[in-house]
Amino acid sequence: MRSSFFLPLATLLLAWISPTSAIRNASSSGLMVGTARIDITPYPNPHWLPLNEFPHEKLHVRAIVYESNGVRGAFVNCELAFIQDGIYKTANKLVAEALNTSLANVLVSITHAHSAGPAGVTNANQYGNAAVRNYTSLGLAAVEAATLAVNNMQPAKVGYNTGEAYFNVNRDALDPLTRRWTQAANLSGPIDREVQVLTFLGLDNIPIAVYTSYGMHPVNSYLSGFTTGDWPAAMMRWIETSMSVNDTFVAIYSQQASGDVNPLLRRPGTNNLASISSVPITGFELVQECIEEPVRDGYTPFVRPDDHYIRQLFQELEAQGIMMGEIVMQIMSQTTDYDLNPTIWAAQETVSCPGRKRLDNAREGVAGVYTSGPNFNVTTGAVGIGDIVLVTVGGEIFTRIGWRIKNETTMAKTMIVTMTNGQPSGYIPDALSFSQETFQVLGTSLMPGACAELNITSSLVSMVASYKATLG
Ligand SMILES: *[C@@H]1O[C@H](CO)[C@@H](O)[C@H](O)[C@H]1NC(C)=O
Ligand SMILES: *[C@@H]1O[C@H](CO)[C@@H](O)[C@H](O)[C@H]1NC(C)=O
Ligand SMILES: *[C@@H]1O[C@H](CO)[C@@H](O)[C@H](O)[C@H]1NC(C)=O
Ligand SMILES: *[C@@H]1O[C@H](CO)[C@@H](O)[C@H](O)[C@H]1NC(C)=O
Ligand SMILES: *[C@@H]1O[C@H](CO)[C@@H](O)[C@H](O)[C@H]1NC(C)=O
Ligand SMILES: *[C@@H]1O[C@H](CO)[C@@H](O)[C@H](O)[C@H]1NC(C)=O
Ligand SMILES: *[C@@H]1O[C@H](CO)[C@@H](O)[C@H](O)[C@H]1NC(C)=O
Ligand SMILES: *[C@@H]1O[C@H](CO)[C@@H](O)[C@H](O)[C@H]1NC(C)=O
Repeated sequence: MRSSFFLPLATLLLAWISPTSAIRNASSSGLMVGTARIDITPYPNPHWLPLNEFPHEKLHVRAIVYESNGVRGAFVNCELAFIQDGIYKTANKLVAEALNTSLANVLVSITHAHSAGPAGVTNANQYGNAAVRNYTSLGLAAVEAATLAVNNMQPAKVGYNTGEAYFNVNRDALDPLTRRWTQAANLSGPIDREVQVLTFLGLDNIPIAVYTSYGMHPVNSYLSGFTTGDWPAAMMRWIETSMSVNDTFVAIYSQQASGDVNPLLRRPGTNNLASISSVPITGFELVQECIEEPVRDGYTPFVRPDDHYIRQLFQELEAQGIMMGEIVMQIMSQTTDYDLNPTIWAAQETVSCPGRKRLDNAREGVAGVYTSGPNFNVTTGAVGIGDIVLVTVGGEIFTRIGWRIKNETTMAKTMIVTMTNGQPSGYIPDALSFSQETFQVLGTSLMPGACAELNITSSLVSMVASYKATLG
């Protein structure tokens, strides 16, 4: 289903003559951009108090609201590990209603930081599916951020540029001892190092906001027991506090293709888990999976890790975030081509592929047992902003799908944003990766094959082509 957004002249006139108090008039031309950041950090667990030493210990919902040529839209980003499909859809709808725009113009995404939830629990990844801090739902927090952002819109210009960061690694590997598939760094597996950066400046050239994407799971804090937004939180706060002394700048990170991508460096996170389960820590890099498994599966009591190791982990997350932030700011600095009056266009679709139901529950390394299941539905979208287009996937695609989208898009400035506006049950491997018995492949309810890879790519590529056609 496609719902392209065309703005009739009447809308423009109506918006001009009937403003509401919460929302500014749509400007007849010229880009306007506003930003906001609200705190959604869970209230502290008195039995498992935070260190309160690192910026990444706070979680936020951020919004960048844009408007040009009478069309308004928003990039909303939530520092959460995982939210259900319906939560994305509700937040998307509420923000679109608040901004009086189409669903397709609103991108609701998450950073996927694996400990972005309450402290002292192994299921922190449920945070966001119910109340967040003092908001009764994520949708209401998203509306609050979008409304605050609308109310500080200012004339702006937008530019796009890319660079590279070498912090990520393919995470699907054959265990050298068992010769079975496991989660570990695979230095020869597919990996995409591209960092994509959309920069918004005021007309005075003072930076207002940046929207970035890069493929890398924020998993080093997984099961750490502490609340943290992991390296993306450190990155966003570093950029924000670097770009404006009064902290009005907003930086957003969203996932690119990351279903098969981890950080290359995981040693401090592994040590932190080892300190929970009393595995001897040597100082050398330990094998994560065999240390994570007993904690993940509850074979070992979940206790507060040694402060020494959580502090080292948090220092590493801060360091990763700072270095990623520096790369983003270098890419921003080298962005030269800015547009003051971009066309805005958006569309959203759902692609569908055969699904399956799992009948067993092995983690990895063996074949799974399945029966057929309901179709696997993936939300796709595109937002055109002048000669830039953001293509979105509601799910966790593998690297080769990202490459395929980049290969086949007909617009040079195509930014990929995933984990946006929807989440099917499971990962979205490319056709080749289905032969690997990894936890992502075994766990997905997508039937093996090329359907998702082909359908997602062709949906995005055809939306990009439709947008390009409107540019003439
Ligand atoms: C919202 O947009 C619709 C058209 O899309 C327009 O008819 C209506 O007047 C707008 N409402 C406000 C409050 O701007
Ligand atoms: C919206 O436009 C009307 C009519 O031009 C004007 O009176 C009003 O001040 C504007 N409101 C805002 C918030 O800019
Ligand atoms: C909700 O939490 C935010 C962030 O902590 C705070 O600024 C705001 O005042 C709170 N609102 C209410 C109604 O408590
Ligand atoms: C890395 O992955 C590739 C497939 O992408 C596989 O052929 C290779 O054996 C893997 N290497 C290791 C060390 O796991
Ligand atoms: C914050 O600083 C920016 C310049 O960095 C300035 O444009 C803006 O007006 C300041 N905002 C506030 C609320 O002081
Ligand atoms: C996706 O793929 C399936 C099977 O290959 C096909 O039947 C379906 O129409 C495709 N298109 C969409 C938009 O889902
Ligand atoms: C996918 O969408 C189809 C058609 O709307 C529906 O029948 C099916 O149940 C959906 N699949 C899931 C897993 O919700
Ligand atoms: C992308 O294009 C390159 C060069 O044209 C090709 O080598 C590669 O196989 C393509 N990758 C995908 C995933 O389509």
